[in-house]
Amino acid sequence: MADEPSINPLIEFTQHAMSEVNNIILERLQSDVPLIPELAGHLIAAGGKRLRPMLCIASSMVSSQNLKKAPEAALYLSASVEFIHNATLLHDDVIDASNQRRGKQTANALWGNEASVLVGDFLFARAFELMVETNDIWVLEKLSLAAAQITEGEVKQMSMQGQPDSQKSDYFSVIKGKTGVLFAAAAQTGSKVGKGDNDLCEAFYNYGLALGNAFQIMDDALDYGASDGQIGKDLGDDFSEMKVTLPIILAWHDSTVEEQKFWERTFRAGKQKEGDFQKAKEIIAKYSCIERSLDYAKVEVEKAIKSISVIPNSSLKDALVEAAKFACLRDK
Ligand code: IPE
Ligand code: IPE
Ligand code: MG
Ligand code: MG
Repeated sequence: MADEPSINPLIEFTQHAMSEVNNIILERLQSDVPLIPELAGHLIAAGGKRLRPMLCIASSMVSSQNLKKAPEAALYLSASVEFIHNATLLHDDVIDASNQRRGKQTANALWGNEASVLVGDFLFARAFELMVETNDIWVLEKLSLAAAQITEGEVKQMSMQGQPDSQKSDYFSVIKGKTGVLFAAAAQTGSKVGKGDNDLCEAFYNYGLALGNAFQIMDDALDYGASDGQIGKDLGDDFSEMKVTLPIILAWHDSTVEEQKFWERTFRAGKQKEGDFQKAKEIIAKYSCIERSLDYAKVEVEKAIKSISVIPNSSLKDALVEAAKFACLRDK
């Protein structure tokens, strides 16, 4: 449907800058050690939506009041943000033992865990080099904080593994850490290099945070609600890793004693057998946990839109509003 919210307007607005960002990315993943560009290039060439750098570019353009051209520092910053994201993906696929990413085999499946972790570290280091090139210590501070919080989110998630009776508040703190804060920092620091004042930087932070949260809630819903091949990742990874996400927390709460026994076996005891994923999906469907997850995502989207209500109207603002709406409608 032509009227469905999409990220296309955001893509169009940031196209020119993003082609420069892509050049920086390709240049900076080079190394004399051939395995590094080979492995990182495999992930990066597979694309991805490039949402975080696009938000960074867009907020820099809004903040500098030049919707035609992004400030140069924003290009390095955006490349840095995408490097952080890709580094976390390399590490995340090792942790989650995932085999598919962006419609291709994961780096860990092709080159092994050790190589993936090390190249992830390389991308992190490159990200920090790029940050320094913005010549802005505040930007460095905010992105370093985000990088630390991503790891905190992943570690907190790991400590909740196998506990279907986890609190929703813990889930929300996990997704804020592992996903929300990088979206937030991308938009916030983009605004800063565009010379946005404190209020504007904060507005963009809140926008990115809520959008990122919505995005992760959707991602977690899609792991049970999508069809095969739809998201370029294997479905059911969260289930097989006993990862406690919103659909599980909601389902646990409503489950009968019998159903709770099922969650106890498959999550807490980690004993899963053929047909269990299907059964999990049935319980999730019985209590409308996907739809209810989407309601939570919608609340975040509304927060995101409200956060940028302070910025002057423009077609780029419309594109940002549309990108937020896309976050809770996306199907890939
Ligand atoms: C994947 O992020 C990890 C999550 C936060 C769900 P994206 O869905 O933005 O990944 P790519 O970059 O588009 O592949
Ligand atoms: C994404 O987390 C990784 C980070 C945000 C660090 P997930 O494990 O939930 O995402 P996918 O499903 O692998 O993309
Ligand atoms: Mg994962
Ligand atoms: Mg993960």
